[in-house]
Amino acid sequence: MTVSILGTTGYAGMVLLRIALGHHEVDRVYPVSGSRAGAEVSRFDPGIPADLAGERLGATNGTFCTIEDAVDAKPDVVFSALPHLSSAAALEPFLGNCVVIDLSADFRISDPSVFEAAYGQPPARPDLLSQAVYGLSEVERESVRTADLIANPGCYPTATLLPLIPIDRAGFVAGRIVTHAMSGISGAGRKNKLNLLFSERTENANAYAPGTSHRHHPEIQSRLGPSSRLLFTPHLVPLSQGMVVTSVVPVTSPAETAIRAVENAYEGMPFVRLRGEAIPETRDVRNTNRCDIGWRIESDTVLLFSVIDNLWKGAAGQAVQNMNIRFGFSEREGLNQVGEL
Ligand SMILES: NC(=O)c1ccc[n+]([C@@H]2O[C@H](COP(=O)([O-])OP(=O)(O)OC[C@H]3O[C@@H](n4cnc5c(N)ncnc54)[C@H](OP(=O)(O)O)[C@@H]3O)[C@@H](O)[C@H]2O)c1
Repeated sequence: MTVSILGTTGYAGMVLLRIALGHHEVDRVYPVSGSRAGAEVSRFDPGIPADLAGERLGATNGTFCTIEDAVDAKPDVVFSALPHLSSAAALEPFLGNCVVIDLSADFRISDPSVFEAAYGQPPARPDLLSQAVYGLSEVERESVRTADLIANPGCYPTATLLPLIPIDRAGFVAGRIVTHAMSGISGAGRKNKLNLLFSERTENANAYAPGTSHRHHPEIQSRLGPSSRLLFTPHLVPLSQGMVVTSVVPVTSPAETAIRAVENAYEGMPFVRLRGEAIPETRDVRNTNRCDIGWRIESDTVLLFSVIDNLWKGAAGQAVQNMNIRFGFSEREGLNQVGEL
């Protein structure tokens, strides 16, 4: 099959490209770059051997291509790793012509007014919001199988929702959920911004956009039932890749039943590993597509601990997982790492 990637030189795009080049069902990859079309891919990412790039990269002889090249290639699937508010517009020539998997937020929130409140502009394609399938793979697998437009979830929503959804859907939440999340700096993208400089971020950490004010809050809240109210506070911590989420959830009695809902939901799922009372760490999942989940019970309250790699399960890995589900490939194809073989 033929795959195209938009925004290939970003953090998520580069991981997507490496996964696509190692994927046994992918024959040709068209790596689009607005800033580097014509430049050699293996010079930009020396981790990609020049001969592999020459062999499998579109018709461009190992170089990044333009969006026009990618449209002409009539790909089976296009991934967009462009920023929100740019992505939906760039995807226009692909919509309806191939499977679209958008890593940005442009199709994630189905209510246009909620999108505008969070992102400061109306969505580019409000008509498509209700058709887009929210690609939280483990939860929406059946919808993903037939979807032509997949809104890949954000990294905070993925790590937060996976442990929460089984408890929420079973009706066991008995009060306000309080979630604290910590993200590595690559979660903010490959930007030239003062607050992302090494000397600003190393030996330094802070909360930001607390309570209900982060853009991912409506994305998470809209996936929970109306009685599950969430306070969500993210933190930037001095890691390059990785995300830790801790949710404090008051539950109906007995609390063990809520934990059983989590265990039942993910039995046999390749990319969720339940760790019981062991508290997972970011290095346990680094460069993998896994979400590791642990828990503790404190009388009528459950503490849920989840970790992901923001660039894998939080972005590129989950996008490829969704492609695998959509095209009927093995869900693990291209994503096997130590621990998943
Ligand atoms: N980083 C994460 O952990 C993460 C997690 C989940 C979801 N996401 C989402 O995935 C998308 C990509 O994230 P990222 O972290 O990889 O971003 P990034 O590192 O900032 O890269 C985005 C890429 O898009 C292109 N680009 C940048 N500004 C653009 C503009 N104004 N118009 C058109 N193209 C532009 C550039 O690639 P070219 O010059 O090569 O075209 C750039 O390298 C974003 O929507 C982000 O919200 C990211």
